[in-house]
Amino acid sequence: MATQGQGFLSISNLTKSYGAGEARTQVLKGISTEVDKGEICVLFGPSGSGKSTFLNMVGGLEPADSGSICVDGVDITKLNDHDMVEYRRRELGFIFQFYNLVPDLTVRENIEVCQYLSRDPLPIDDLLHSLGLWEHRGKFPNQVSGGQQQRCAIGRALVKNPSLLLCDEPTGALDYHTSKEILELMERVNREYGSTMIIVTHNDAIRRMSHHVLRLRDGMLSEDFRNEHLMPASELTW
Ligand SMILES: Nc1ncnc2c1ncn2[C@@H]1O[C@H](COP(=O)(O)OP(=O)(O)O)[C@@H](O)[C@H]1O
Ligand SMILES: [Mg+2]
Repeated sequence: MATQGQGFLSISNLTKSYGAGEARTQVLKGISTEVDKGEICVLFGPSGSGKSTFLNMVGGLEPADSGSICVDGVDITKLNDHDMVEYRRRELGFIFQFYNLVPDLTVRENIEVCQYLSRDPLPIDDLLHSLGLWEHRGKFPNQVSGGQQQRCAIGRALVKNPSLLLCDEPTGALDYHTSKEILELMERVNREYGSTMIIVTHNDAIRRMSHHVLRLRDGMLSEDFRNEHLMPASELTW
């Protein structure tokens, strides 16, 4: 086996294309990087550059053409279906631009249903308080604001206490102030729960609060560096 790096998430020579023949496009042309445990890692890139594809591959939702994705020393590109389901269930939390909450379940129940996916879930009451959702716990998604729905989606991802949180444009549907609140919340979640996060975003300001910055361009990483000085999410402006 090729030598693997030391990062919690170690990605080596990852490639991916869609389509066949004339229509074939290579989206990722050999991506290699290391994400450390507990990092907030942000991934930028123009629309269509393959950010979601990359995230979905790390999330085991999309197969790689070649290369490896090692999470805590396990190459997930080699897992069989059963182990892949276990990996997703055990290790991952997903947060998307659109919250995908179950409309017929309350805020609390939306979080609760994911609790059963873990052997070691976080206490729901604590989480509801910490997410600022305690007063809203009995409401249905359409009775709370977009920001509160996203908090609920974050709670749902977080309740399993995942080691890796994959966030695809988590503030993409939110206004400025609500986006800032969500970023402050994610920063706090990273600090309090130690979750490693990969955040895909268009918002350049997020680079300042992130330990690690990646940029995708023409199928390659054109930037891959760590910040020496972080700016608290509360001080970001854009
Ligand atoms: N399932 C798919 N089938 C075919 N092409 C796809 C599929 N998913 C994404 N693509 C193409 O791959 C490229 C990267 O898409 P995506 O990862 O969604 O980019 P981003 O998230 O950076 O906007 C785009 O050109 C898109 O059209
Ligand atoms: Mg995308």
